[in-house]
Amino acid sequence: MFYYKLGSIPHKRHTQFRKPDGGLYSEQLFSTEGFSNDYSLLYHCHPPTIITGTDTPVDVTPEVAEERMLKHRSFEGFHVKPVDDYLQSRIPVLVNNDVHISLAAPRKSMEDYFYKNADADEVIFIHEGTGTLHSQYGKVTFEYGDYVVIPRGTIYRLSFNDSANRLFIVESFSPVVPPKRYLSKYGQLLEHSPFCERDIRPPADLETFDEKGDFLIRTKKKGIEYGLHYGHHPFDVVGWDGCCYPYALSIHDFEPITGRVHQPPPVHQTFDAHNFVICSFVPRLYDYHPNAIPAPYNHSNIDSDEVLYYVDGDFMSRKNVTRGMITLHPAGIPHGPHPGAVERSIGAKETKELAVMVDTFHPLKLTKQALEIENEGYVMSWAE
Ligand SMILES: [Fe+2]
Repeated sequence: MFYYKLGSIPHKRHTQFRKPDGGLYSEQLFSTEGFSNDYSLLYHCHPPTIITGTDTPVDVTPEVAEERMLKHRSFEGFHVKPVDDYLQSRIPVLVNNDVHISLAAPRKSMEDYFYKNADADEVIFIHEGTGTLHSQYGKVTFEYGDYVVIPRGTIYRLSFNDSANRLFIVESFSPVVPPKRYLSKYGQLLEHSPFCERDIRPPADLETFDEKGDFLIRTKKKGIEYGLHYGHHPFDVVGWDGCCYPYALSIHDFEPITGRVHQPPPVHQTFDAHNFVICSFVPRLYDYHPNAIPAPYNHSNIDSDEVLYYVDGDFMSRKNVTRGMITLHPAGIPHGPHPGAVERSIGAKETKELAVMVDTFHPLKLTKQALEIENEGYVMSWAE
């Protein structure tokens, strides 16, 4: 992301930066890839290192129910039950070593703890609900259609404006970045990118909580959740600058790339990560060649599992699609439009579909909870 700053920072990095009482602020370098990638420098009222207690670790590793399979699958995402607590509400459904995909319907804001995912960047797609991500960097407000991107290691707290929330969560074990082909050699989003810096919403409204007490940061690392208690409020930052921070990007600000004939899936790519991509399918005009077929062609995604999360609108190539539905088309067998969809698409001028796609280059495993919300028989739905 681009360089940004909020609050008070010293003129030179790594130099004395003093409080009104003469004491030093505590500088912290924050990066997700050692010292060789984008970073931010944060200035705390107190060192971010003062652990005052630890809880018994809890194993939260997703329970894999099907490790290997070759079958088209479909799941009812909205059958995941609403749960008060945010962390408890997160239900992993499809996982591999690069990415974990979860669904969540949290009813309540996080009030008595903070959360840190030490392993994975998180992309939280807001399907329903509005609220605010609170962090050391300031606040990021979110609403329907936002991707909230949180670098791994970021301490955060979510507050929701009401109890009806539906989230589609992608945990990435590598940095989530814009596709390289859209970036200039120094990192600016280029003219042909479907979104640009103006669409990125960095944190705002930095508040400094110079408070002593018992502050619990529930920290996930390698499938174990550790309760770490700190003696000072983690959001005690008076200022920061750099290129590593949480932000929001709305799917509604993604400008579709269209053509005279059907455009391939990469035109929908929004984010890149190691061994997977995230794509946005948004309302758009259809192909305008006089003999164009707007429905996608059948394709053999021989090297990637395709996960589609249906958000809203009409889904031209599939039948019986519901909001929050997930389809998984695994690598190894071709898939394509349902019977009749190709003919039906001819002459159509536009689509209102809204969907998020995650393509992984290694097979996904199904969790126990995924099987509980599965639509049986989906694999036969092309034969009907
Ligand atoms: Fe596909």
